[in-house]
Amino acid sequence: MSKKPIGLLDSGIGGLTVLKAAKKMLPHESFVYIGDSARNPYGNRTKEEILSYTNELVQFLLEQDVKMIVVACNTATALTLDYLREKLTVPVIGVISAGSKEAIRLSTTKHVGVLATQSTVDSKFYSQTIQAEASDIEVRSIACPEFVELVESNQHATPVAQKVVSEKLAPLKNQSIDTLILGCTHFPLLADFIQKEVGSGVQLVDSGALTVEYIKDTLEDLSIGADKSSPDPSTKIYTTGDPELFKAIAEDWMESKSLEIEHITLKGLIDSERK
Ligand code: DGL
Repeated sequence: MSKKPIGLLDSGIGGLTVLKAAKKMLPHESFVYIGDSARNPYGNRTKEEILSYTNELVQFLLEQDVKMIVVACNTATALTLDYLREKLTVPVIGVISAGSKEAIRLSTTKHVGVLATQSTVDSKFYSQTIQAEASDIEVRSIACPEFVELVESNQHATPVAQKVVSEKLAPLKNQSIDTLILGCTHFPLLADFIQKEVGSGVQLVDSGALTVEYIKDTLEDLSIGADKSSPDPSTKIYTTGDPELFKAIAEDWMESKSLEIEHITLKGLIDSERK
């Protein structure tokens, strides 16, 4: 048993989709979340930048004495998971595997779509993960960086967002894709618009939320889950960006008015401000 918190990281607000599902399934656990909104988006950055920023977020979480790191960002998972697993002694969980497995299970047409950032698409992590297990599945990936911006600016529930989603997903209409992976943790906030656009015949897969099963299994396998009788689990949320904007989006998404959100400046950000 371990009372230590579980650490989650993302390039911004998106990882809250994982946190929300994790809090629901693991109500006795404490969590520390860090979102790097000041340097968002990660999805069109170089591998070196993504590696360096993710390292900083990991360092911050380790300073909070977390027992596990959840890379609640597909982009960071695609580009840093192997490196982090090799380097860290705490367990590291990414968000790509769970969604890939679920898509393989669900697809009957054997045509799976993936909506993700440019870096995730370029990494081919999804197509390789899916085809390693199911070589007969055809994977069509679409980079949707515009979606990330809509969420980070709290515009994801507006008519503007609906229009952007509709234009972006038009090429997917009347295709044989029957399963669509939300391969960026920001995208579940746009799920209603996405579903409306692709139609009810296409099943959406929330890769991040499905990852919580992996978190649960890992806690059990390593016997590091919180004692179910331990009182008052805590959730601390940190952002490198504007805490008020983050709070507005987070409270709405998490359906909670009492979230503790704190602004934090990481070393790399101080250095870049000095330049
Ligand atoms: N939420 C992130 C993901 O899952 C990335 C968004 C971004 O920073 O571009 O890929």
